[in-house]
Amino acid sequence: MKVSVKVPATSANMGPGFDCLGLALPIYNTITIEETVLPGTGIEINLMSEEDAIDEMSFDNIPRDENNIVYKAVEMLYNSIGQEPSELKINIQAQIPITRGLGSSAAVVVGGLLAANKLLGSPADETALLSIATEVEGHPDNVAPAILGGFVMASQEDDGSVIYRKLNWPEEWDITVCIPDFELSTNIARSVLPEQVPMQDAIFNAKHLSMLVHAIDTKDEKLMRAALQDKLHQPYREKLVPGMKEIMEAFRHEDGVLGCVLSGAGPSMLVISYKYDLDKIKSTVRDIWEGQSIKADIKTMKIEPRGAEILE
Ligand code: HSE
Repeated sequence: MKVSVKVPATSANMGPGFDCLGLALPIYNTITIEETVLPGTGIEINLMSEEDAIDEMSFDNIPRDENNIVYKAVEMLYNSIGQEPSELKINIQAQIPITRGLGSSAAVVVGGLLAANKLLGSPADETALLSIATEVEGHPDNVAPAILGGFVMASQEDDGSVIYRKLNWPEEWDITVCIPDFELSTNIARSVLPEQVPMQDAIFNAKHLSMLVHAIDTKDEKLMRAALQDKLHQPYREKLVPGMKEIMEAFRHEDGVLGCVLSGAGPSMLVISYKYDLDKIKSTVRDIWEGQSIKADIKTMKIEPRGAEILE
């Protein structure tokens, strides 16, 4: 038996929502799991990329054995019902670029889990799958929108449980996804963050996060423009993303551009706009990055309202 699951890319943080907000984007990975009948075949992991989703070097670094993150998630699910996975073939068809801050690892973990769950007769519900995915992948702000689609708040509580809710992202707001041609690992992007932050910065983010939640709930563009600011992660990551500061500065005073944020741990960036010249956004970002010899793939998208989907 074989099950395939299509999972969207995700962009975590949305500025002040560091580690707790994320949205789904219409770029997809498809994960297929097949229980092979031949005993002794063990685990086989195949990775196929579309376009430039996988760079050669990163491709070589992805483990194809029990250390593969998809296998680990699947194993945890099997173990949770007292079973061990044995003969499995895992195929990953990747469209989401890796190490670009677009949730590629969350997508494969979620896809693997949902496929394995279906193979097992659906023993785990959504909450249980979300907890396992978060435990393996580490970022509920990617995992939750990958499962649910749309715009999601997610918090891993101290006891390990995950609280999550879907919020209403205004459909009219455009998201221009700017993906540069260089990689940034989440580990490196987290290593530059301080252990502690000044109280004033924590208060700044609390204020802006509450503004942001209200702004998206009420489709308030003016409030959104004020809300999309962060002092907990973006200022520290700026030095890892050439051009980031200039791109943010370029849109600061443009009416119609609601804000510009780092996507997840970077280096991709999102420009959120409303009834604004999208070609102008693209050329501004492209010019800044080209000035630094960085090529980029820049596309305007709507949020993906649907989450992971089992393909029949
Ligand atoms: N919230 C996480 C971070 C997302 O910014 O480090 C990682 O994908």
